[in-house]
Amino acid sequence: MTDETVLYHLSDIHFGLVDRAAIDWAAAEIARDRPAAVAITGDLTMRARHREFAAASAWIQSLDAPVSVEVGNHDMPYFNPLERIRDPFRRYRTMRAGLDRLIAPGEEVLPGLALVSLQTTIPFQKRWPWVDGWITAEALESCLAQIDALPPGTGALVCGHHPLPERRGDGRLLTFGGAQAMAELARRKVLGVLTGHVHDAFDLVADTSGGRLRMIGAGTLSHRTRTTPPSFNILHWDGQELELHARNFAQGGEGAVLVGKVPVGPAPSA
Ligand SMILES: [Fe+2]
Ligand SMILES: [Fe+2]
Repeated sequence: MTDETVLYHLSDIHFGLVDRAAIDWAAAEIARDRPAAVAITGDLTMRARHREFAAASAWIQSLDAPVSVEVGNHDMPYFNPLERIRDPFRRYRTMRAGLDRLIAPGEEVLPGLALVSLQTTIPFQKRWPWVDGWITAEALESCLAQIDALPPGTGALVCGHHPLPERRGDGRLLTFGGAQAMAELARRKVLGVLTGHVHDAFDLVADTSGGRLRMIGAGTLSHRTRTTPPSFNILHWDGQELELHARNFAQGGEGAVLVGKVPVGPAPSA
């Protein structure tokens, strides 16, 4: 029986440099807990190779759960610049299209709770390196339209790849367009924003010009760990509140959740 109170949040699995023991463990946890859905917030692959997407697809299909997937900065062609120019998301799109249990944007996955997508990844940027987030006007508009289309009373959980804070403490630009996105999402009173990219779990509430916004990050299931071992998040939903638990592979149970700030410094997935 599916547990209608539980949502799994995984991120940065990075097939190509995946931690096989960690994903076997995560899959076993999912088989045991039977969450209502699994949200995967990007960086499915290391270099967007066809074989990496094939491995990602096979693993996701094996989960026997409804899934949502987002595109990460690692999921665009790395070795084929022409393809990156012409159709950067083709491989990712093809992988998505092959998933049997893909959750549609706006679909209610837990009682009164739906997932919506916010793309934070673009193929080229007016800065170097291209690993950080960039929320285009179109991406934000699309996300807000998904939220506005939800039935009244349905809470939205936004899924993207890059944490939204626009700048880190020392002023360095992180996610372009993040401040505006945060304010708009807070104004719409979303339940939270699920992301990855920094490879450590976090749970924070930010004050924005649109109100308070909760932002949750999941760690990685790859060998590219940063300060914490491979981990994923479990969100418990009681119809009103979301409670976060990070499960940590090294400890086989609860993991450290960095509360209060997004880890600073260049992302380990760079
Ligand atoms: Fe990333
Ligand atoms: Fe990553």
